[in-house]
Amino acid sequence: MDLENNCYPCNQPVQEKKPPCPLQCQSPKCAAFKSKSPIDTTKTPIVWVLGGPGSGKGTQCERIIAKYGFTHLSTGDLLRAEVKSGSERAKCLTSVMERGELVPNDTVLELLREAMIARAADSKGFLIDGYPREKSQGIAFEKSIAPVTVILYFEASCETLTKRLLGRAASSGRADDNENTIKLRLKTFLDNNDLVLAQYPEKLRRINAEATVDSIFSEVQKVLDPIVATK
Ligand code: AP5
Repeated sequence: MDLENNCYPCNQPVQEKKPPCPLQCQSPKCAAFKSKSPIDTTKTPIVWVLGGPGSGKGTQCERIIAKYGFTHLSTGDLLRAEVKSGSERAKCLTSVMERGELVPNDTVLELLREAMIARAADSKGFLIDGYPREKSQGIAFEKSIAPVTVILYFEASCETLTKRLLGRAASSGRADDNENTIKLRLKTFLDNNDLVLAQYPEKLRRINAEATVDSIFSEVQKVLDPIVATK
């Protein structure tokens, strides 16, 4: 396996990998700096929406969009769209997602960054659903895009998560909604989650996701209302 030039774990050749600015110089003349996101978080909040598989991230995001008009970007949806596109990158993604593992961070971050920049001019706020899923993802996001404003973390037991995903399996059409892959998705989540959350004690808001959709959304509003009021 060519670890230098090929993708881990699928070993496909890596396409158009651009090196970051080696000096992190932030000079306006530097191409790496110019390509930075124009998102101004003093006007456009960035909300990370985290929680285990089936914790209700997507469900709550729908309610948040309806009330606050935020731009919703789910990394799972971005990756599934990429898979459908049949691109070179897609071949690698399919097998990783079917194993319930994490797609390499370069790929996720690139998709996310492109989507955020495309919507930056008219966005009232960004809801980043399902990212970061490991410590290094959070660090890379804040370095190359912008600092997160607040983190909503939906907390539920593995029993609840499994029950919900199995309940959804019949109608979701998702290749990863089956008993075996659900176990692997949960393991991936449990292996990484504490390390992700531990990085942001001041920005983290834990919400009990065992409750009803309405009462969870009441808690969400208690977090988001004051943030929106200051923008
Ligand atoms: P992704 O698509 O993000 O899947 P997930 O995190 O496993 O979460 P789900 O979308 O399945 O669930 P959800 O929390 O949105 O819950 P939902 O609202 O749908 O990621 C898929 C894969 O992509 C990953 O495994 C990975 O391979 C890859 N990937 C994604 N992001 C990545 C990243 N950052 N880095 C690397 N790889 C990445 O609700 C679930 C069900 O429960 C529904 O039926 C719903 O109706 C029901 N429900 C919701 N709330 C309630 C409630 N309060 N009470 C009762 N039922 C409820």
